[in-house]
This record gives sequence, C-alpha cells and structure tokens, in this order.
Amino acid sequence: MAYLELQNLHRDFGTNKALDGIEIQLGEGEFLSLLGPSGCGKTTALRLVAGFDRPDQGRIVVDGKDVTRVAPNKRDMGMVFQAYSLFPNMTAHQNVEFGLRIRGKDRADRRKRVDDLLELVGLGHAGTRYPHQLSGGMQQRVALARALAIEPRVLLLDEPLSALDAKVRVQLREEIRRIQLELGITTLYVTHDQEEALSVSDHVAVMYRGRIEQMGSPAEMYTAPATPFVAEFIGTMNRIEATVVDPSTGTIETGGVTLTVEAARGKARGDRVLVLIRPETVEVAAANGAGANTMTGEVLTHTFLGPVTRLKIVSGQSSLIADMPTARAAALPPGSKVDAALPATEARLLDLKDDEALPQITEEPGPAGP
Ligand SMILES: Nc1ncnc2c1ncn2[C@@H]1O[C@H](COP(=O)(O)OP(=O)(O)O)[C@@H](O)[C@H]1O
Ligand SMILES: [Mg+2]
Repeated sequence: MAYLELQNLHRDFGTNKALDGIEIQLGEGEFLSLLGPSGCGKTTALRLVAGFDRPDQGRIVVDGKDVTRVAPNKRDMGMVFQAYSLFPNMTAHQNVEFGLRIRGKDRADRRKRVDDLLELVGLGHAGTRYPHQLSGGMQQRVALARALAIEPRVLLLDEPLSALDAKVRVQLREEIRRIQLELGITTLYVTHDQEEALSVSDHVAVMYRGRIEQMGSPAEMYTAPATPFVAEFIGTMNRIEATVVDPSTGTIETGGVTLTVEAARGKARGDRVLVLIRPETVEVAAANGAGANTMTGEVLTHTFLGPVTRLKIVSGQSSLIADMPTARAAALPPGSKVDAALPATEARLLDLKDDEALPQITEEPGPAGP
C-alpha cells in the first residue's frame, strides 16, 4: 500500500510544462530521491507535495487521503531547504522549538522534545548558538531537527546539501539516512547529484523535462538504465551509436567496426541502437592485432581516480572510456596503441528512433559520445 502518492501531476508555467504527468507511489517509511538536472521540475514537484503550490492537474494522496487542496500547515509535512533557511534571530533551540510553539505544546514538553532532537542530529551542545555561530553543515542539522519537530508524516528535502563542502555533504547525507531509518519516516529527497541519490535511497526516480524517465532501486538504475538519458545521467557510460547488421548472431556495426552483442539478437536488421557499456567492463591491453569485439585505438588521456585510472581511448570516429586498475594503467600511458575489448554479454542496448538526438547534460562531464 502506497503511503505517499503523486498521481498524474501537471504544472505549467505559461508554455513551460514544468511537470508533465508525474506518477509516484512511495511506501510508508521509504526514502525516494527525485534526481535530475537543474530545471527538470524537482522543486516544483516538492512544492506541490508540501502545498506551497497547486497542480494544474492530478492529485497528491497521503495515507489514502487526498491532500491536493489542503493548506501547507495542515499537511503535517516537514521541509528542509537548500540552505540559509533558519530564523537568524533565534537560537538553534528556538528554531527547532518554533513549530511546537505554534502548535501550542506546553513548555516542559517542548524543552524535552527539542533537546532530544538536537541530540538526534548531533547538536546537543549547540542549542544556545545562533545560526551565524554555526557552520553550514550544523545549520542544516538544525533545519532537519526543526522539520522533524512536529513529527511530520512526510519529510521533504530540497537539495539540502548542495551548499556544503564535499566532505560535509557525504557525512551529512549518511546522517540524514541514519535518522530517516531510525524514525522510519517517509521521505522525498530532491537532488541533482546522482552519487548522493544512489548512496542513500530505497528508490530513485530520474526526472528529465518534467517527466520521470525511470524509477527503480539504486542498483537497477545503475545496471539497467532504461533510456539514453538515464544511461548518461547515472554513473559514467560509454554510449555508442550502432546499426544492427545480423540479428541472428547479434552483430552490429559502428564506424566500420563490427561487434557482437548478445542483446542485439532479436532486433531487426538495420535497426539503430545505442550500445551502453560501463567503463569498468572494457578490457584494455597493448595492441596486438585485434581479436573479436575489439576496437583498436590510441590512449588519449589518463584520469587518476585512486584505485582505478580512467583511460580515454580514440578509435577512428569513436571514443571510449575504460577504467582499469591503476597499477596496470601505468603500462599504457597516453599515446599507447591499445585494443579495447567490449563485453558481449554485459553491453546493454537501447533502441534509437531515427530522429532522436542524444540528450547532453551540461552539469556533469559525461563520457565522450561517438
Ligand atoms: N514560479 C515559476 N514561474 C515560472 N516558471 C517556473 C516557476 N517555478 C519553476 N519554473 C520553471 O519550471 C521549470 C522547473 O523548475 P524547478 O522545479 O525549479 O526545477 P529544478 O528544481 O529541477 O531545478 C524550470 O524551467 C523553471 O524555470
Ligand atoms: Mg530545484
């Protein structure tokens, strides 16, 4: 049974379809991330759920009740914004207490509850401090405690970590997940950061242009992207445009190179496809007369990523990214001639329509396309 439902939500701003039929079902106590590039409609969706805005079409249902027309303060939702949303003239304690005062809780109850919450977010010692005396990460902890104070039925977070330093971001996302699990609170989390979404969520919904491209577990989204956009947005992916030559053998052709891909069996001759290959599944070796399923090319660059090194390999018109253990990569410096073997079984295929342009994402440097 779904606890939070977004049913066919539409929201237009003039001719701009900010939301174009959003459909989400979330079970009680589950954590869903809405993930997508800037402008795809994430905040608009969250504002509709919070009640700050009304949909042009569709419904929001919580625990079986339609709340689409219910005022924000009657929805029992806790909200955490990007940053700088604390009341600057109130201490951390007073910020967390705010919603409880509004709701007329008595003084002793309030004190106990606020102390517990500050403890929960790791700020038991900082109740008397004002926002300007707190780091960004601490301010967001207070904002989280404030959102949780009213015991909301749903917790909504809109890019709560995006203003913080990388290290604090990682710490705090794990804290948010710990607290969410501890309280068992149904949570909708908005982010444009795929690593963040994959690392803390039960479910991830990738949004693009006001629609949900795909929804699934983090592992599903990573291993089985269903659209070219998701393939580009989640993780690093080689995306190679190709044409099916012989479906019976799974043979495809790209830029003069013939490859065999299991997933091409069952397609039709002449079909345009997009071959998806994760960089960690490409096998690179010094060139020695290419074997099967191999693109021969030259190493253009090395990017050191710690345990692995990412090689950019150019082969004719195509380019390819391959990750290999750093210790082995040293033997294949930029300029080396290499064979890059593509995995016949692990490569996935998506159908490409004749006129379909691959979406390009500007925020993240994606892998080089063909
Ligand atoms: N109040 C508004 N008036 C006009 N256009 C808006 C308004 N709010 C959002 N938009 C537009 O709707 C689209 C989605 O915006 P938003 O939900 O803020 O995206 P995101 O949070 O994913 O970055 C964008 O094109 C944005 O410019
Ligand atoms: Mg936003």
